[in-house]
Amino acid sequence: MAVLDEAKALRDYVTGLRRDLHRHPELGWQETRTQGIICQQLGAMGIPYEKVCGTGVIATLRGAQDGPAVGLRADMDALPITEQGTDSGYCSETPGVMHACGHDCHVAMLLGAARILKAHENELRGTVTLIFQPAEEVIEGAHAMCGLPQLAGLSRIFAAHVWIDLPTGAFSIEEGPRMASADNIELRVAGKSAHGASPHKGTDAIVAACGVVGALQTVVSRLNDPLEPVVVTIGTIEGGASSNIIADEVRMTGTVRSFSPAVRDRTERLLEQVAGTAAQAYGAGCKFTYRRCTPATINEPAATAVARRAAVGLFGEGALSHLEKTTGGEDFAWFLERIPGCYVFVGARNEQTGKCWPHHHGCFDIDEEALTGGTALLAQLGIDAGKDME
Ligand code: NI
Repeated sequence: MAVLDEAKALRDYVTGLRRDLHRHPELGWQETRTQGIICQQLGAMGIPYEKVCGTGVIATLRGAQDGPAVGLRADMDALPITEQGTDSGYCSETPGVMHACGHDCHVAMLLGAARILKAHENELRGTVTLIFQPAEEVIEGAHAMCGLPQLAGLSRIFAAHVWIDLPTGAFSIEEGPRMASADNIELRVAGKSAHGASPHKGTDAIVAACGVVGALQTVVSRLNDPLEPVVVTIGTIEGGASSNIIADEVRMTGTVRSFSPAVRDRTERLLEQVAGTAAQAYGAGCKFTYRRCTPATINEPAATAVARRAAVGLFGEGALSHLEKTTGGEDFAWFLERIPGCYVFVGARNEQTGKCWPHHHGCFDIDEEALTGGTALLAQLGIDAGKDME
């Protein structure tokens, strides 16, 4: 049977799994029930698996012929959000936790693809490694998994994300940067306390911090090449104890996004330099910490071409759609830093049925018609991806 027909035949299986996972969402590193279901399903299919990194699972299909090893990755975790779309019939049963990004779909689609790949195991060249990854939302899971010895031999890796900005049936499979690097910054501006009526006897950390916030934006607007996007956001600011006391410390945190490793390096350097200089201009000090969280998600050209061919073969040329890259972060980037691969956006929007709320929103839900295409594409990638590498 053709892969797409097999995926269509698995529609109830994949939808059923997705709904079950949706009803029982689990936060990052707590995906024990989800892990149990994955293991149970893989066991029933006769696919060997092992539990890794606490709540993760790795399973391997070995083809009859030798060839490269290809990885397919699904993230598993949910978000600390209360679900609002309670009339779906598969609403979250865990208060305050919800699959508001679609990772329930990713697990279900990869299990559907596993069934198809199992049926095609004899035709496979090389191995297909199924990677069920915990803790994407807290951007820790991929980092924990990508160094595992079981993944050391992978020649290519793919992941698919259901995407509400694309209509069902459309796929964005495009080379180059697709999602931004996401890093955190923390600043402690240090002044000297004094009576609020005598500012000249102290060093006002609040006025200095205001100067620092303004100066940081000049890294984006004056020091960065306008053709290379960078976002610098200060998201929290706290300091001071009373209306009549000069504050001696202000603590700020923020996020930094970019698409190019070189821009990321440069921005890190410039932010520290500018923050220090700006604080100094007010006689204050500034302790600057830059924490690298996840790299940019950058699709490798050859792997992207394989994925595009697979999608065109399954759904026709018209299924390929352009989606502008986004400043959101995705921890699959850790895998892509080590292994050439491609991150695919699977359209899951349907305005007619109201499936158009944004990701990470309490009303988020996808058009389940999208699951069949996602399942078929993952299976096809497992079959195709090693072939042109021999
Ligand atoms: Ni997500």
